[in-house]
Amino acid sequence: MEIKFLELLEHAKKASENTYSPYSKFPVGACVLYQSGNIYVGTNVENSSYGLTLCAERNAISTAIAMGEKTKIVAIAIYSPTQKPCTPCGACRQWIQEFKESDDTKIISDDKNSELKIWTIDELLPHTFEL
Ligand code: THU
Repeated sequence: MEIKFLELLEHAKKASENTYSPYSKFPVGACVLYQSGNIYVGTNVENSSYGLTLCAERNAISTAIAMGEKTKIVAIAIYSPTQKPCTPCGACRQWIQEFKESDDTKIISDDKNSELKIWTIDELLPHTFEL
């Protein structure tokens, strides 16, 4: 399936503008593409009890599940207006792996310098835990 990286990043960037991140002031937006062609966005949502923070990637994946998505993840785009591209945290990598199409599922990240980076889930989470 053709992956329109720039379109996904545009959606991720828009989502990052809706962030709730008053504590870290580190906005993140994510846009996840499924085999169905459906896309879902998410942004980070923080809390005064810091440990309850939800990352943008897991927010997008949760929305997909809530909306009834049954296919697998082809790609996920992440945008943060930082100096270098934001990589998904360990918890988000494990979440992506749970729903990935294959080890080749793409993770795309961009920042305010447009330093676009692309990895596979296998590169970011090798020897992953699966039941
Ligand atoms: N964050 C994400 O939303 N995704 C990531 O991949 C890394 C970190 C958020 C969590 C928190 O709100 C802020 O970025 C700083 O850690």
